[in-house]
Formats: sequence, structure tokens, C-alpha cells
Amino acid sequence: MFDKVDQINKELQSAHATNPQELEAFRMRFISRKSLISALFDDLKAIPNEQKKAFGEALNQLKTAANEKFKSLLEQGQSIDSKRSDTIDVSLPPIPHQMGGLHPISIVKNRMIEIFERQGFNVSEGPEMEDDWHNFTALNFPEDHPAREMQDTYFIERNPDKLLRTHTSTVQIRLMQNGTPPFRSIMPGRVYRNEAISARAHCFFHQIEGLYVDRNVGFKDLKQTIYHFAKEFFGKETNIRFRPSFFPFTEPSAEVDISCFICKGSGCKICKHSGWVEIGGSGMVDPNVLEQCGIDSQEFSGFAFGMGIERITMLKYEINDIRLFSENDVRFLRQFNGV
Ligand code: PHE
Repeated sequence: MFDKVDQINKELQSAHATNPQELEAFRMRFISRKSLISALFDDLKAIPNEQKKAFGEALNQLKTAANEKFKSLLEQGQSIDSKRSDTIDVSLPPIPHQMGGLHPISIVKNRMIEIFERQGFNVSEGPEMEDDWHNFTALNFPEDHPAREMQDTYFIERNPDKLLRTHTSTVQIRLMQNGTPPFRSIMPGRVYRNEAISARAHCFFHQIEGLYVDRNVGFKDLKQTIYHFAKEFFGKETNIRFRPSFFPFTEPSAEVDISCFICKGSGCKICKHSGWVEIGGSGMVDPNVLEQCGIDSQEFSGFAFGMGIERITMLKYEINDIRLFSENDVRFLRQFNGV
């Protein structure tokens, strides 16, 4: 029996482990519950009583020796590993860093924000799930008025209504309710409309709306703000024009067109040979909307505008299908890297 202990001791003392597999093999053979040493402990029962004490001591020493050896093998292995990672071969070529690129919608959104920020607008955001009051009632859409159907709405719950916002005008309401004029803010964000998906329309898109409320704000301020944006974004020679329109929350309301930056007005496919392309809606904030938000419409006036970021991006880069923005095809997305 004592011979066996000696033999195991010799074997474990001369053991080496140069990789994790060998280390694990050592652990299995000498330390684990199924090891040679554990088996000897089982034999202890069968040993005559007068030898039990001496054999038990020898076994305990063997067990300690095995544990110590294992510890030292483990330490050696770790120092090999750390030596490996300490020595970087500086002559090797670098591993190229795979950088992601910004989505075209983000690129255009950031550029639009930059232009409006320089005109003194800050950025406001709000929730995508809204109630009827913020999306319609506060914006002067009368109950059961057909204007509510201008924006086909996704309802999440009815009575009381919870819905996905159809425009970011909801953020204008939140801003005016929670603060005091003056306000000069733009609201970028995602909006949802239940429209048949085609090259021109999707069930969601992004808007940037703007709101400016102060004393003596007039239509001239709206025109100048949009004109400045159009020239900065589409080029110096860009012209703008306003066409009378209707929105429940603005009075008067106008559709905003810019002169076609592709053909410079001579007529092309983009402007359908009219020389003008539409970029959004606008108008003077209806006094009812100001009053709904607790603002004295005798003292304050304001303008608002809204543009679809997808539309602006499609015009700028001559993209002919809105679905490309959400298909996640890297061949499309890669073209905007570094823009
Ligand atoms: N909220 C309008 C829309 O989504 C756009 C708009 C904003 C029009 C502000 C006028 C003034 O259709």
C-alpha cells in the first residue's frame, strides 16, 4: 500500500502541463473525486487498524502534495498566457476597424437640426404613443371631423384612445403646455400612418416639425426661416414658394415648395416638369391651439412647419423608393458612409 503512495507521489511530482488540456488531465488523475488518490482513501476502510493511522497520514500528505503541484502548474500556465499577451508584434499590419456608418435618415436629420439650431431653435422630443388629446383635440381637430381621417391612424386602444402619433405636432403641444413663451424648437421623430406601402409611402416615417411662438411673430418670419433652411440645405440659388392649404392647427396654412434643384426650374422628372417640389406644410399657429395650451393668443403668436425627413432625403439623394430606408440592405446603406 505504501508503495502505491510513493509511486503516485513520484508520478505527480514529475508531471508537466503546458496547456489547459494537460492541466485538466492532471486534475482528473490526482485531484478530482475519481482520482487515484480518492481511490486510495476508499481503500483505507480495508486496512488493518494498527496501520490505519500511518497510512492515513501518508495519504493526507499525498493529497497536499497533489494540491500544491496543481497550484504551481496553474501559476506556470497563467504566466505563459500573460507573456503571450504582453508581447505584441508591432511589425504586423493592423486589424482593420469595422466602423459602422450613419443611416441616411440620421445624416439628413442631423444636418437639418444643425441648420435650425443656428437659427436659434433647440430640439424637443416626445413619446411615440400618444392620446387623442395631444394628437388631435389640442391641435384643433374637432371631434368626428373628417380632417382626422387625413392621417390614417393606428389605434392601440379605444375609449379612451391610445394611438401611435401621426405627426410630431404632439410635441409642440407638450412643449407649450409645460412652459411659457417664447418657444423656438424643432421636433424630430418617428411617426406612424396606416397607409398602403408603396415606393412613395410607408406605415412609418420621420418628421421634423418646427414651432416658434413669441410676441409679434408673423408670416414673414416663417418665410425667412424656411428660405434660410432651403438655401443652406439645397443650395444658394434655391427659391421657395407658399401655396395656400389647410391644416386644422394653422391659420393661414401653406404648402411649402422649393425650386427644383435638379433642373433649376426648366422641368425634369423629379419636379414633374413643374420646376417646383413640395417639401412640407406650414402656417401660423391657430389661436385656438395656443389657448388650449394656456397661452394668451392676444399677446403671443407663432408659426409652425413640418417636413418629412424621408422626403427631404429622397429629394437630396434622388432616391426613388422609400422602402429602401427600412430594408437594411447594406449595399444601399453603404453608399452614404462618409457623406
Ligand atoms: N403636422 C402636419 C402633418 O404632419 C405638418 C404641419 C406641421 C403642417 C406644422 C403645418 C404646420 O401633416
